[in-house]
Amino acid sequence: MPVRHRDLRLEREHGLTTGKITFGYWNIPFSWAEAFLDGTGTVLRWTGLWQWGLRHALEYRVREHRIRHERGKGGLSGYRILHLSDLHAEGISDGGRSLRERIRAIPADVCVLTGDFRYHEKGDGTAAVRLTASLFEGLTYKHGIYAVLGNHDSVRMVPQLESAGIRVLLNEGVAVERGGLRLWLAGVDDPHYYRLHDIDRALEGARPEDLKLLLAHSPDIAPEAAGRGVDVYLCGHAHGGQICLPGGVPIIANLRVSRKYFAGPWTHDRMIGYTSRGSGASGLPVRYFSHPEITIHIFE
Ligand SMILES: [Fe+2]
Repeated sequence: MPVRHRDLRLEREHGLTTGKITFGYWNIPFSWAEAFLDGTGTVLRWTGLWQWGLRHALEYRVREHRIRHERGKGGLSGYRILHLSDLHAEGISDGGRSLRERIRAIPADVCVLTGDFRYHEKGDGTAAVRLTASLFEGLTYKHGIYAVLGNHDSVRMVPQLESAGIRVLLNEGVAVERGGLRLWLAGVDDPHYYRLHDIDRALEGARPEDLKLLLAHSPDIAPEAAGRGVDVYLCGHAHGGQICLPGGVPIIANLRVSRKYFAGPWTHDRMIGYTSRGSGASGLPVRYFSHPEITIHIFE
């Protein structure tokens, strides 16, 4: 990791806890966000909805997403990418037991994690990394496990994640060979709060004919990525709303781009994208009318 990037990230991480937090289009003082969440949690407990929300946050849905892209034809056919996002691991109320069981039943060639390992936005990330690593204990993926950082993660967690066998892509990419084709698997640093993403740098080394797959924490830079030649864009961040009205109608999208990119599959020009609804919950460990998600992307 370049020292300059690390230093800049640390400087902004310090700024987060003393200044304002980005929530969609708004920047609000960190202390206001904490007070709002405390108040909401109290109301949910008073109204008896708390336990229901905790249970719903463990009701995982496995969603299959088929990718049909001209660059992947033939060689990548049948290639399976297990995608988890927004684990917010130390906030999972059953310690990850149900999620671990579900993951074990899903074969994949590679696993990708699109950020937000940590429940809290500050403090030590050790517990989050330990719990994340425990989800994959005894599991192996032919092409490994790759990750990007989210707005809840500290750059200090990178060495811990990598020690646990999770390779973090901080504005960089790696080549994955399959069936005579090459997939360029790239990742950028958090584009939502820290804004330290560098798509061009992540694509350095990719050949024109490679299928370029970008991992980013949020869909905020999807239009920019399409303009830079990315073919497939995988992300998370919005949690499918996390706290929704009946029918899954989100109260807040928490994005700086159109709601078109909010959840599930979408396209931007020729780029194919997918926004995971996330496996975890942040702010409060509850979800309402918004199932947590495990995604398996399969190339056709
Ligand atoms: Fe998140």
